[in-house]
Amino acid sequence: MFQVNHLTLLGSGVLGGQIAWHSAFKGKHVVVYDISEEALAACRAAQAQYAALYLMDEIGASEADVAAARQRLSFTTDLAGAVANADLVIEAVPEIPDVKTRVYQQMAPLLQAHTLIATNSSTLLPSDFAAATGRPDKYCALHYANYIWSANLVEIMPHAKTARATLEAVTRFAIETGMVPIAVGTEHNGYVLNSWFPALLNAAQTLVTNGIATPEDVDRTFLIANRGARMGPMGMMDVVGMKTVYDVSMHWGHVRGDAQQLANAEYIKTHLLDKGRTGLLAGKGYYDYPDPAYEAADFLAVPPLSKLPEIVDRLIPKA
Ligand SMILES: NC(=O)c1ccc[n+]([C@@H]2O[C@H](COP(=O)([O-])OP(=O)(O)OC[C@H]3O[C@@H](n4cnc5c(N)ncnc54)[C@H](O)[C@@H]3O)[C@@H](O)[C@H]2O)c1
Repeated sequence: MFQVNHLTLLGSGVLGGQIAWHSAFKGKHVVVYDISEEALAACRAAQAQYAALYLMDEIGASEADVAAARQRLSFTTDLAGAVANADLVIEAVPEIPDVKTRVYQQMAPLLQAHTLIATNSSTLLPSDFAAATGRPDKYCALHYANYIWSANLVEIMPHAKTARATLEAVTRFAIETGMVPIAVGTEHNGYVLNSWFPALLNAAQTLVTNGIATPEDVDRTFLIANRGARMGPMGMMDVVGMKTVYDVSMHWGHVRGDAQQLANAEYIKTHLLDKGRTGLLAGKGYYDYPDPAYEAADFLAVPPLSKLPEIVDRLIPKA
């Protein structure tokens, strides 16, 4: 059975950087492609953080493992060079259909005959892009979850023309890189995970956009109702990255004619993106990092009576 040894990532953002790092750690040779040196520099900085994390107890990597992963990674802004040797290309560019279509079309004439392509899109379908790849039989979705080192699942989803051999090769790749394959046999926007996750984020954002509750109270409610969860939906948005939350909200707001979702996108742009609060990797989003307020010891505590006036102020409609 065909084995993927050389992987190329298109897009070195939040997820592209994680997939690249983790796959290199698991023994694959990985080329990371992006359109700017600035993006690649940000990816390298993020991967330095991942390296530190992999050395910790939860994963328990050795210094030698991490050094070997670094050796297997390279970075480039040259698309032809990036894909020349690829067995598999994973596309992780923004969740904007035109951007994805354009990059598939640019890449199509540059690939070797055997190269497979997968999309990490969160909410779009492989059939939307199969023609643009120029090799529909060698194309499917391979959707990772954020925090790849602990959320080690990958949702595999073909479109009608994906060949069985393609699915065998990507499933083998998933297993070899320590991922639990989730088989989504019928095309479905959002797979399993994103059938509820963006809906949760959108519902939480609606509360904040419309001034119904503060971001902290939204997360407090979630965390008290789901004791043991690591973070609430506003904290999750920081992890996803505000640009991707914005792109998803804009796209689906337009597709569904959903005025509230478009208002949520606008809120994220003006209150967060325009202020450089792009999320966890930037050190600031809804929360400031590395010590977000929701990790404070008293975040979920019964408040002292001295806080009563502040709470009641929030209950009185503003004039
Ligand atoms: N963030 C998440 O939690 C998450 C989880 C699973 C899947 N995804 C999906 O992964 C994809 C990427 O999301 P992200 O959050 O990593 O986005 P991101 O905004 O963090 O990164 C996107 C990267 O793509 C680069 N880029 C833009 N145009 C490009 C092009 N033509 N060629 C190559 N690179 C280009 C950008 O410079 C940027 O570095 C999206 O489809 C998203 O839905 C995201």
